[in-house]
Amino acid sequence: MKIAIIGVGYVGLVSGVCLSEVGHHVTCVDLNTQKIDKLNQNIMPIYEPRLSDMVAANRASGRLHFTTDLAAALNKTDAAFVAVGTPSRESDGHADLSQVYAAAESIAEQAAKPLVIINKSTVPVGTGDEVESIVKEARPELHFDIVSNPEFLREGAAIKDFMTPDRIVIGVESDYAKAIMAEIYAPFAQEGYPILYVNRRTSELTKYAANSYLALKLAYINEVADLCEVVGADIKGVSKGIGLDSRIGEKFVNAGPGYGGSCFPKDTLALVRTAQDHERPLRLIEMIVSSNGYRKRAMSRKIAHMCENQIKGKKIAILGLTFKPNTDDMREAPSISIIQGLQDMGAKISAYDPQGIENAKSYLKNVTYCKSILACVENADVAVIVTEWDEFRELPFAEMRAKMRSSVLVDLRNLYEGKTLNAHGFDYQCVGRPLETQLCERANNDSG
Ligand SMILES: NC(=O)c1ccc[n+]([C@@H]2O[C@H](COP(=O)([O-])OP(=O)(O)OC[C@H]3O[C@@H](n4cnc5c(N)ncnc54)[C@H](O)[C@@H]3O)[C@@H](O)[C@H]2O)c1
Repeated sequence: MKIAIIGVGYVGLVSGVCLSEVGHHVTCVDLNTQKIDKLNQNIMPIYEPRLSDMVAANRASGRLHFTTDLAAALNKTDAAFVAVGTPSRESDGHADLSQVYAAAESIAEQAAKPLVIINKSTVPVGTGDEVESIVKEARPELHFDIVSNPEFLREGAAIKDFMTPDRIVIGVESDYAKAIMAEIYAPFAQEGYPILYVNRRTSELTKYAANSYLALKLAYINEVADLCEVVGADIKGVSKGIGLDSRIGEKFVNAGPGYGGSCFPKDTLALVRTAQDHERPLRLIEMIVSSNGYRKRAMSRKIAHMCENQIKGKKIAILGLTFKPNTDDMREAPSISIIQGLQDMGAKISAYDPQGIENAKSYLKNVTYCKSILACVENADVAVIVTEWDEFRELPFAEMRAKMRSSVLVDLRNLYEGKTLNAHGFDYQCVGRPLETQLCERANNDSG
């Protein structure tokens, strides 16, 4: 089938390349001329494992194209996915739907033949109805359908998630649209991946309900981790102990500095606002929005505590800036609140990240960006692991210790055991384990 994708961001680009990989002819359209020019030279606008090779292969096969010409793209297609951004509206936390509505208006203006418009952006329940009105008003004579097909991929594993999905959710209101969607996803159905057909509003709400549930799990385990620190329990054991219960599951039960990224913070907030508008407040989600916001900044105080709150003028080396590994996305990354909190206390910040530095520059000021772990920790008083990149799972402790002015390592991702770090001469703190235990471990180790 011939497909257009409107919006070539993390979701649009990955969806486009994966749909061409399974045999469709895909034209990806974006307003950003620079981005399209670069893609036409095989230069990726984002970092995502396997993406570059797959784009090159599918362009070479003639099944994948990039353009800024919406009219030309629509002229060839039966189905157009909309994958534009839906950030938080600054004034009130509702989803800002201006990009979705603008894309709908452009599609209505340019569509030359009957079209199924598929919304892949994350949008509040009822947005499909609004998009339908926009297109109908602009082009009363056009035959079109509006479908909801939210995307569940995770950055860092986006290609894998799209190609081997847990499920594909499709919200349709007509048999014709259902048939078109069945054709698009036929290669996935043949492989046995579950495809769930529901009505459009159910599909729209499913995406928010899924993301908010995952955020709830994270916020919960993070609060349990805080309790562990004062009662002498170990969050790693608690996580294992609850995760082995099949009703709970082992994923999303690891404590950390708070969730970030381009989805959970904005989607939880948007769901809260939708629920309030319908006078069915989701109190649990309201709580986690506030708990997570508090937590990210609180991590800077945890780090300060390791320096006996004498942070002014200290050099803090931040290892990891992106909100998770294997992406360059800095949106709502915990590192932002942590670094700003430390800077407010007078700390000097150096930072290293394998992929995120270019994007970090537009979020953070007065940070010395470094090209390696060792350059970052040079003369540092404290090193802090903020993102669990694989590179940080095997840190060069001896070299780090030799370069650092002082010996404090704060591990906000619980990658290490206190004993190991103490043996390398570090004062170590992680999340959800009492400091006293770790110091004891050090004493035992020293005496042994
Ligand atoms: N990033 C993720 O991990 C992820 C996962 C699942 C769902 N989502 C959802 O998918 C949607 C897109 O997210 P993203 O992270 O890919 O966004 P993004 O900001 O990375 O990309 C959006 C792209 O759309 C383009 N665009 C905006 N208006 C346009 C228009 N009228 N015509 C053509 N191009 C236009 C922008 O130039 C940009 O390149 C959002 O609703 C998001 O919530 C994102």
